[in-house]
Amino acid sequence: MTPATPAYAHAWPSDRWTPDSIPGQSGRLVVVTGANSGIGYVTARELARRGAHVVLACRSQERGREALERLRAEAPGARAELRLVDLADLTSVRRLPHLLASPDPRVVTVSSEGQRFARFDMGNLDAERGYRPLFTYIQSKRANLYFATELQRRADAAGLRLRSMAVAPGLTRSNVLTGGANSTRGRAYGALMRLLLRSAFRPTPEGAKTSLYAATVPDLPGGSYVVPDGPFQLRGEPVLRSRERAVQDADTAHRLWALSERLTGVLHPVPAQAPSRD
Ligand SMILES: NC(=O)c1ccc[n+]([C@@H]2O[C@H](COP(=O)([O-])OP(=O)(O)OC[C@H]3O[C@@H](n4cnc5c(N)ncnc54)[C@H](OP(=O)(O)O)[C@@H]3O)[C@@H](O)[C@H]2O)c1
Repeated sequence: MTPATPAYAHAWPSDRWTPDSIPGQSGRLVVVTGANSGIGYVTARELARRGAHVVLACRSQERGREALERLRAEAPGARAELRLVDLADLTSVRRLPHLLASPDPRVVTVSSEGQRFARFDMGNLDAERGYRPLFTYIQSKRANLYFATELQRRADAAGLRLRSMAVAPGLTRSNVLTGGANSTRGRAYGALMRLLLRSAFRPTPEGAKTSLYAATVPDLPGGSYVVPDGPFQLRGEPVLRSRERAVQDADTAHRLWALSERLTGVLHPVPAQAPSRD
């Protein structure tokens, strides 16, 4: 018997997929972290345009309110609200315990292809043995990938319906080079980064495509890693990457999860089996 063709296969090769392919999202509740700017904002706006109820999870009341007003202007009739969440503060993270109440829960974690250049150092996760911004950034992006894949393994082991996806957006115009700590680096840095953003980085909606794809393609398998299909995965249309070493490295992902549980005191209710070392 020929197995039924999964719906995501219709979007393959994914150059046939555009945000116009996104099915209606009404009835879905979507929480977008970092939704006040960049990729998060566009992801929230596009999902709201298609009928999802969108929660903009932002750490700043002021920036969040501005984003909500902008979203309501750009997506009239959108069902959107603002909630304050600082991801560096676990108390505020714990105020979102409702994921598993959904009939089809999905988590999309935004990594980066920069993760491929990380030398992952389990002994220096907090940069306590020296802080090098780029090194720390790409290490955190590798950790995103380990987190997303280990979450899927644990969900599977617990028999949960939850699907966990990771994405890389490619080079995307946003506040990533100019916001946060970078905003205090002086005018010359700011001007250089703005020039770089304009010349080499793509418009933000392009970078939001992999997130939108991972969040909405109906039968996309849990554990997928979605990247742009262009040169070095810096630009292009969303495709699945299965041959990614970090995606297959269950051992490091397992150890990172255990360490994260110790550091945060947050325990997953069902421990995964240790990966086999065959
Ligand atoms: N742009 C690229 O080329 C690129 C490439 C690869 C990967 N990425 C990834 O894409 C994701 C989105 O970044 P972006 O490019 O859209 O940059 P962005 O415009 O700087 O957006 C980052 C968002 O994250 C929020 N945020 C930062 N720390 C937070 C915290 N502790 N709690 C809650 N929210 C927090 C920021 O809020 P504030 O405004 O309050 O700071 C902002 O809304 C990031 O994970 C980034 O690593 C981006």
